[in-house]
Amino acid sequence: MSHPSSQTIDLDVVREMMSHITYADHQEGQELILFALQEINEHFGWVSLEAAEIVADHLGTTVNRVYALLTFYADFRTAPRGDNFMLVCHGMSCYVAGSMRLVQSLRDRHGVSDGETTADGALTIQVVDGCLGICDRAPLVKLNQEFHGELTVETLNDLIGRLRLATSSGGAR
Ligand code: FES
Repeated sequence: MSHPSSQTIDLDVVREMMSHITYADHQEGQELILFALQEINEHFGWVSLEAAEIVADHLGTTVNRVYALLTFYADFRTAPRGDNFMLVCHGMSCYVAGSMRLVQSLRDRHGVSDGETTADGALTIQVVDGCLGICDRAPLVKLNQEFHGELTVETLNDLIGRLRLATSSGGAR
C-alpha cells in the first residue's frame, strides 16, 4: 500500500466509518474487528489508540483485544508514516545481492530500522521478505511508487539525499 498517511486521525470520521459497520450478535462483532481496523488503516495510513478504542466500543469488545490484533498484523501501522515510504526488498535475490548492507546502512547512517520513520519525518521504511518481482535489478527498493534497482550503499544514500532535498523544498510525492 502506498497511500498517504495522515499525521492525525479525525475521530469523528472514525465514528462515522463505524456507524456503517453493523452486526447481529457478539460473535459477529468480534469477526468484524479486523475489517474495521483495515478500513481505518486504509483511510488514514495508520490506526491510533483512540481509534482502536472507538472500534472496541462499537464492536462490544475490549481495547486490549483490538490492540492485540492491531499489533499482531504487519499490515497495520500504529504510528503515522513519514512524508515518503520505502519498501526494502529482502527476498532471496535481493538478499544474495546485498540487501542486508542496505538495511544496515539505513540503520547506521539514517537511524531508521524496519517499520520506523526518520527523526525528521522524511522517510518511513519497511523491509519485506517477499520478492518485489524485479529480481534482475536486485537489490532494489520501492520508494513511493518507483522502483530503484541495482543499488549500492552509495546509490541508496544518494537517493535518500535527493529525497530529503525534494521534501524540504516541498516537492515530495
Ligand atoms: S527478491 Fe527482491 S525483487 Fe525479487
